[in-house]
Amino acid sequence: MSKTLINTFAPKLIAWHGVSGRSGLPWQGNRDPYAVWISEIMLQQTQVATVLERYPRFMKRFPMVKKLAAADIDEVLAEWAGLGYYSRARNLHSCAQQVMAEFGGKFPSDPVLLEQLKGIGRSTAGAIAAFAFHERAPILDANVKRILARLFAVDVAIQDKLVNDRLWKLSADLLPIKPADMPVYTQALMDFGATWCTSRKPVCLGSEKKCPFAKDCQANLSDQVLLLPQKAKKTKSPEFDCNMLLIRSGNSVLLQKRPSKAIWGGLWSLPESPWVAKVQSAKDVNLSPQDLLKAALPQESIATIAKACKSFVKLDEIKHVFTHRRLWMHIWQASCSKELPFANPDLKWVSLSQLGRYGLPQPIKVLLQELSLVRGGDLKN
Ligand code: ADE
Repeated sequence: MSKTLINTFAPKLIAWHGVSGRSGLPWQGNRDPYAVWISEIMLQQTQVATVLERYPRFMKRFPMVKKLAAADIDEVLAEWAGLGYYSRARNLHSCAQQVMAEFGGKFPSDPVLLEQLKGIGRSTAGAIAAFAFHERAPILDANVKRILARLFAVDVAIQDKLVNDRLWKLSADLLPIKPADMPVYTQALMDFGATWCTSRKPVCLGSEKKCPFAKDCQANLSDQVLLLPQKAKKTKSPEFDCNMLLIRSGNSVLLQKRPSKAIWGGLWSLPESPWVAKVQSAKDVNLSPQDLLKAALPQESIATIAKACKSFVKLDEIKHVFTHRRLWMHIWQASCSKELPFANPDLKWVSLSQLGRYGLPQPIKVLLQELSLVRGGDLKN
């Protein structure tokens, strides 16, 4: 790598941040590792605008690691509702307990130790170490990979292990000399990737051509900016169908707590049938209430439920896209004459006024809101 770039990259990037970077965000300038950790996890898969709204609320509810560790997981999931990628919330809870048990409630400053905590990957460990402890620790998220792949024209598929090692080394080589510069430098790197060196509309290709690294960037010098980094070929994710039961009894609705290892693990959803590979023209007209009940409530005595549940109607079809699969949820509504007891302890009648206390998958929450089963404000984010 050119010696000049090693010496000039960090100061130039920091200068860029002073003019064009993001500033004044509530988690910036905070050296409390707990606050930094929460914001970094929230920012991983959630847009800054949403985090701006949700981060202060989370911090108010769980202001320190001790409070989060002592909370019930349902409380944490309910607070996380709507942010998606719920394993983040479950990992936050486990990690808080780990910090209490293994580190006496104090986050370690060493990125190698941080990386051993639940839900903290190498790049997030670097970010926490840099922001909270001014450690000279590199980061390598997707934005940083793109910046480096362009600067150094790394032209091999980005998932390759050797390429990844090389990118980590480059990220470490470019760090500023002074530890005190680490927070602004790390934020600058993230912001530069998110706002200037973007995937499809990088500033260097705009009319102003104002990128501070235009003369250093090998991709720019060789007209390959949009070709780098090479994208891995995307295959279409598989599609599934599942039937879901929306059973109401008076002012209550039947919910089921999902197994912790499943998608939406630990959240409260509607009872559902097993997922099956999507049938292109699903003929659900032939599904009887008994079929539906049997598939969605396999541990229960179907005859009793079928007797008490009336007016089965197909209410809606909702498509939900996960990272690796697409799900078509077929929602069937019925009303039940009384709040029947169930064998499965994960089934629960929940009063509509109490729904706000439960962490619900986003599409289920939206469905219940649209049906006005939830009074205004009860299920707000
Ligand atoms: N994504 C992850 N961490 C971030 C941060 N500190 N600022 C903006 N986006 C981010």
